[in-house]
Amino acid sequence: MESHLEKQNGDVLQQSFKEMISTLPKENRWGFLEDYYQYQGFWISPSFLQGALSAQQQFQAQPTDVILCSSLRTGTGWLKSLTFATITRTSYNDSTTPLLHTLPHDVVPFLEFDHSQFSANLHLGIPLLATHLPYSFLPRSIIDSGCKIIYICRDPKDTFVSLYHFIAGHCKSKNAQPIQLDEAFELFYEGVSPFGPYWDHVLGYWKASLEHPDKLMFLKYEELVEDTVLYLKKIAEFMGYPFSSEEQQQGVPENIVQLCSFDNLSGLEVNKTGKHCEGQGNLEMENNIFFRKGKVGDWKNYLTTEMAQRFDQRTMQKLSGSGLSL
Ligand code: A3P
Repeated sequence: MESHLEKQNGDVLQQSFKEMISTLPKENRWGFLEDYYQYQGFWISPSFLQGALSAQQQFQAQPTDVILCSSLRTGTGWLKSLTFATITRTSYNDSTTPLLHTLPHDVVPFLEFDHSQFSANLHLGIPLLATHLPYSFLPRSIIDSGCKIIYICRDPKDTFVSLYHFIAGHCKSKNAQPIQLDEAFELFYEGVSPFGPYWDHVLGYWKASLEHPDKLMFLKYEELVEDTVLYLKKIAEFMGYPFSSEEQQQGVPENIVQLCSFDNLSGLEVNKTGKHCEGQGNLEMENNIFFRKGKVGDWKNYLTTEMAQRFDQRTMQKLSGSGLSL
């Protein structure tokens, strides 16, 4: 239990974070109900930034932890469901898994949000934690402990289109005026987006994965779509929960892939009608906002040829010399 003194120190720390954040450059052209602040090169909402700063000071990673990292709308929920189902496969079966009645985002807590759920999960033997923070923002203990990190990224054009729908949908649900797609496009292109510049977010993890391939697994949404079973096996192995040959003969990886498929999860009652962050004001949203199409290449339905070319050029320019292509 937190002592009175610890609480007081915590409050003082939070107040000093708030004061520091209020001095940062701020932005709200996305109309996303909260201003975004630019901190150490990235645009972040104050609640996430405050959580990040606290985590940097307080979070102690263990070597057995697995940290799922991503920018927004790149497949975080899917990765959460696949890793959760893999790690808990001996505790639950197809009819008892919490994924049947819990939004994937809610089975794995966020580092910058929910330490208490992480502690509760750890007691159940689930060492999974997620974060949208850039690599350079991760608490030192995550790097030093040698725990495993899995990063998922996605074609910037699909990421943008997915993000645009997410923010516009969220604004509409709060009766706020959503931004126009072409205006949002220019902002994303200039790097002004939640946790953006998107390319810098990806590059931070890409470079770290080259330096520490045994610690950081770098995934692309498109690869995961292309051969989910193959990548799930690699993920399980990387996390230290490999499928035995008996499990493989029994089709356990295939069952997990089916359980976590877009069609299956998006059809569950909880994901059609439930709420995420219920009672938490602007953070509250319908679970179904996390399931849109789950397709590769949907950008073709929203971006003009000229927009797509500009995006591709920016991607080539940003990733030039890195050895990464998106
Ligand atoms: P689209 O908007 O392109 O459909 P995140 O979880 O990081 O917010 O990512 C959301 C994106 O992942 C959305 O993309 C969403 O539809 C897609 N998604 C959600 N669940 C998925 C699943 N089980 N399989 C594949 N894609 C999924």
